[in-house]
Amino acid sequence: MKRKLVIVMVGLPARGKSTMARKLGRTLELDGVRVRIFNNGELRRKLDTDADTSASDFFAPTNVRGRELREQISRMNIEMAQAFLAEGGEVAIMDASNVTRERRQAIAAAFPGLPLCCIECLNADEEALEANLERKTKLKEFRHLSPEKALESFTRRIAYYESIYEPLDTEQNRILVDSFDNCILQEHITDVLPYYDRIRDIITTRVVRNLYLVRHGETHYNREDRIGGDSDLTDKGREQAKALAEHFATIRIPIIFTSNYKRTLQTAEPIAERQDPCSIIALPEFNEIHAGICEGMTYEEIRRNMPHVARARGPNKYRYVYPEGEGYKTMEDRVHRGLKKVFFLNNYDENIMIVGHRAVNRMILSCFLSRQEEEIPYIYMPQDRYYHIQIDPHKRLFELVPYRSVASGW
Ligand code: F6P
Repeated sequence: MKRKLVIVMVGLPARGKSTMARKLGRTLELDGVRVRIFNNGELRRKLDTDADTSASDFFAPTNVRGRELREQISRMNIEMAQAFLAEGGEVAIMDASNVTRERRQAIAAAFPGLPLCCIECLNADEEALEANLERKTKLKEFRHLSPEKALESFTRRIAYYESIYEPLDTEQNRILVDSFDNCILQEHITDVLPYYDRIRDIITTRVVRNLYLVRHGETHYNREDRIGGDSDLTDKGREQAKALAEHFATIRIPIIFTSNYKRTLQTAEPIAERQDPCSIIALPEFNEIHAGICEGMTYEEIRRNMPHVARARGPNKYRYVYPEGEGYKTMEDRVHRGLKKVFFLNNYDENIMIVGHRAVNRMILSCFLSRQEEEIPYIYMPQDRYYHIQIDPHKRLFELVPYRSVASGW
């Protein structure tokens, strides 16, 4: 007898439900479980209806036709999930806002005798939410609108959902999850649920399918051995960016995360141009270590003009903090926060790309490697190779991959 379970995602739009659903689905699948996600939004976008289903008013509780269509979409997915489970499927994930008790009761009634687990996604991090709204407004659904109009429309849609939102309370098996911090805030489980321990693990563990960690191409400052600043790529740096674009042309990269500095953006732009579609999200958390009073200096100038800095940094590079600047240690929190944003915004896509800097990339890498802190500031971070990282329950891979193309002149 197969063990069957229906998972019901709950939450306002842009709270990370689909990302969580995909993470659960993909990881359970790797465990050998027959699992499928039934996503109402995707079905709505595919259906040819008489209504404009992307307009905010489609979601107004007073819009009778809108309500009818949304209920119809939900029923269609329920029927497909019933068929899937009847044909040997083990876990059906109902991915939709499911914000009303009535909707959740309708789902429960459609699967008599099967255990149901409701997972409500919250995200209390305003900044991550804002970034997610911005990402959503770039999706195909809003392409006909200006970015401002798209944001306005999506915000109004969320407000409609908020006006009818009933948080989980009476459901027999319910988990409240912080989808940004990947932690369980509350759980109330009455039944013996199949896969439950595994589900808890998946919610709280970070799985990395393919993370491409790239350092920006050569800059004028790199050529002069100067640190910090915001300098442009050199011709060689631009060639490196082109070679990266060529290299990744056959690997789908939906989002490239960068810092706010020109050198990472100029490296990411040609890569994004070769992808379809691809957006660039610049995160201040990935800005390079700020060298304070040493910004713009060469290492030689620091040794000569500020010997106390060179002397103090040498033996304790990880904990050393530049006067009026940062150190590796003081970057820990912001880099971790940047990574949380990446995993929240990436919609659990298989492929993630980050274009960062030498020190910041070392910090990112160290989040996945178990290295002593004193080794971190010396991790090799070249500009003609990138790190390919894969971490899941079955694999841990850190590979340094060269990307130089035959055509490039450097
Ligand atoms: O030289 C490039 C750079 O990214 C600088 O901006 C930064 O200060 C430095 O590398 C970090 O490397 P390290 O910690 O080894 O000095």
